[in-house]
Amino acid sequence: MTRYITVAKTAEIGPGEREIFDIEGYYIAVFNVGGSYYAIEDVCSHDDGPVAEGDLYGFEIECPRHGARFDIRTGAVTRMPAVLPILWFPTRVEGDEIQVGFDD
Ligand code: FES
Repeated sequence: MTRYITVAKTAEIGPGEREIFDIEGYYIAVFNVGGSYYAIEDVCSHDDGPVAEGDLYGFEIECPRHGARFDIRTGAVTRMPAVLPILWFPTRVEGDEIQVGFDD
């Protein structure tokens, strides 16, 4: 079962913006791309770098440490040197609240 937790108001993360939250024991980055929200853990699978601080190319986030890329819609690796996916979390909007889901 997925448990959703409110992390921010929709007005707080505008299109093209991102915010990082310390929640449920994870550092989670929430991105707004074109009005939709995507959440990944802010830990690179290559060497634990702060991946969400990197540049975003479409739906690909580039880790600022060694340049690995991940799809923020799935957590999948799209470019080396990483080979493993990163953690991805479902999101939803309830009213004006952005919520991130956790599987119990
Ligand atoms: S720590 Fe992210 S690419 Fe190396």
